[in-house]
Order: sequence, then C-alpha cells, then structure tokens
Amino acid sequence: MTVERITVLGGGTMGNGIAHVCAQAGRKVTLVDMNQDLLEKALGTIFKNMDRQVKKEIISAGEKEEAVGRISTATSIEDGIAEAQLVVEAVPEKLELKESIFTELDEKAPADAILATNTSSISITEIAAFTKRPEKVIGMHFMNPVPMMKLVEVIRGLATDDETTQTVMDLSVELGKTPVEVNDFPGFVSNRVLLPMINEAIFALMEGVAEAEAIDTVMKLGMAHPMGPLALADLIGLDVCLSILEVLHRDIGDDRYRPCPLLRKYVAAGWLGRKSGRGFFGYDR
Ligand SMILES: NC(=O)c1ccc[n+]([C@@H]2O[C@H](COP(=O)([O-])OP(=O)(O)OC[C@H]3O[C@@H](n4cnc5c(N)ncnc54)[C@H](O)[C@@H]3O)[C@@H](O)[C@H]2O)c1
Repeated sequence: MTVERITVLGGGTMGNGIAHVCAQAGRKVTLVDMNQDLLEKALGTIFKNMDRQVKKEIISAGEKEEAVGRISTATSIEDGIAEAQLVVEAVPEKLELKESIFTELDEKAPADAILATNTSSISITEIAAFTKRPEKVIGMHFMNPVPMMKLVEVIRGLATDDETTQTVMDLSVELGKTPVEVNDFPGFVSNRVLLPMINEAIFALMEGVAEAEAIDTVMKLGMAHPMGPLALADLIGLDVCLSILEVLHRDIGDDRYRPCPLLRKYVAAGWLGRKSGRGFFGYDR
C-alpha cells in the first residue's frame, strides 16, 4: 500500500518533526493537538525549521511553500482522521493516555488504517491490545530531531502483520530515513543499548571514578561518540532517562538495569538536564 494521507497526533517535540518530514516527502498531513494555540506553536516550529533548510539550500523556498500547504490541522481525533491511511501517535509517554487514544483511534479511524506509535518505551504489543486491529499496530520510533536524524526503528508487536511492516518500512525510506526492523522487547534496540551506557556513566560519576567532563571526554575522544553520555542524558531529559530505565528494570527483571541512585536524586531535585537549565552540566536558559 502507498501511504498518501497521514495523521500525526501530538504536535510537540516529535510530532511537529514527523509532520514536517511527511509533508516534505509529498504526503498530505493532518496534525492534531489539543487546541489551536498548541497547533500554532507546532506550525511555527515547522516553518522555522523549514526556513533553516531553505537557508542551507537543502530545499527551495517553493518546496517549503508546497510542503507547508500540505499540512492541515485539527483539534480532535474525530476531525483529523477521516481520511487517514496511517496515523502516527506522538502524545506524551503515559500508558493511560496511549490506551485512551488507541481505543478512540480504533473506533474512529478508517478500518484499513495503520496505527503507528512513536513511543520510546511502552510495549507495542500492549498498545496493540487496546485495539481490535493488533495486526495493523506498529512502532515507528523516530529520533530527535526528526528532520535531521536518519533512523526510524520499526517495531513489530507480537501480532503486527507483514503487510503493515512492509508498508511502514517502504514509507520510511520515502521519507528519506533508514528504517531498521526490530521486535518488541523492552527499550527495543535503541534504548536497550543506550540507557545502560548512560546509567553506567552516572554510576561512574557517583562513585568518583572521574568528573562529568572527564567521563564525557573519554567517551567522545576514546570511542568516537559525537556526544558524551552525560551531555546526551541532559539532552534527552533526566526524567525521561529515569522512566526508560524503570521500564527496562521492571519488564526485563534484571538488576543490571537498576537506575543509578544519583539519577533519582537529580530528578527529585528537578535537575532534569537542558530543559531545566541544570543536569550533569549547567545551561543558560
Ligand atoms: N522527545 C524525544 O526525544 C523522543 C524521542 C523518541 C520518541 N519519543 C516519544 O514520542 C512521544 C512524544 O514525545 P514528545 O517528546 O514529542 O512529547 P511532547 O510533550 O513534546 O509533545 C506531546 C504533544 O502531544 C499533545 N497531546 C497531549 N495529549 C493529546 C491528545 N489527547 N490529543 C492530541 N495531542 C495531545 C501535547 O499537547 C503535545 O503537543 C512519546 O511517546 C515519547 O516517548 C520522544
């Protein structure tokens, strides 16, 4: 199936980026958020990011105008999904919220529409079970910032069928991304591998193995990582890191995923990284 009409639910950090790349790849996009102010803000971010691409001569001014013209908005699921062939959900990472959204999507989306989620850590199989079409539910895990990052982790739930997977793999290529197919296990591949490394860096800091700057320098210069793990944790958000580690620890049931007490302490203090102005490093806000 060729996907021409896409609805993106949630116009936040990830949703506006997903709408951006879909519109740029010639798809008709409907962006849904809870009110007009949030939608204006999301559209403003898309315009600004496309302007940057025009300045860098990645796209022409005309292509920007055409892409923007392909995006419409809605303030309810009902108004935004009548024609959708694919829905990409990018609302906050809360299980109850995903449950109510997928229950509603299943009732109101066209019967043959694929329902994808951008979740970082919730089981695709569990989300699929909220619907009566689990074979059409799939993980489409974009990376932040979406217009720049090449990877889409395509996650098959237990019941996801081959046709749905192939459609999403093909679409991801057409969006200019490199899709990688993975199975549904806690943290998928990306967070299963990344978060234990970040957690270990925090243990090393807590145990006084080295200062934060030194730990990051070792990983940047010694392992050719573009960012050190502590700076990356600050970028992701320490609260987000903690909640993903809690999922890994709970769902895999192995103590090697236990969140470092220093991470818990920082989150309790409200030191959440870049977004709060302070994490393992300080930031001007
Ligand atoms: N931020 C990241 O780096 C990142 C990376 C990969 C995956 N994710 C995942 O993507 C999803 C979205 O994360 P985010 O960082 O974009 O969140 P965000 O908080 O920036 O944006 C969420 C948006 O959803 C909207 N929303 C809330 N309830 C809604 C509803 N009922 N209907 C429509 N819109 C609603 C909010 O108003 C907000 O605009 C999460 O599942 C997260 O785990 C995030």
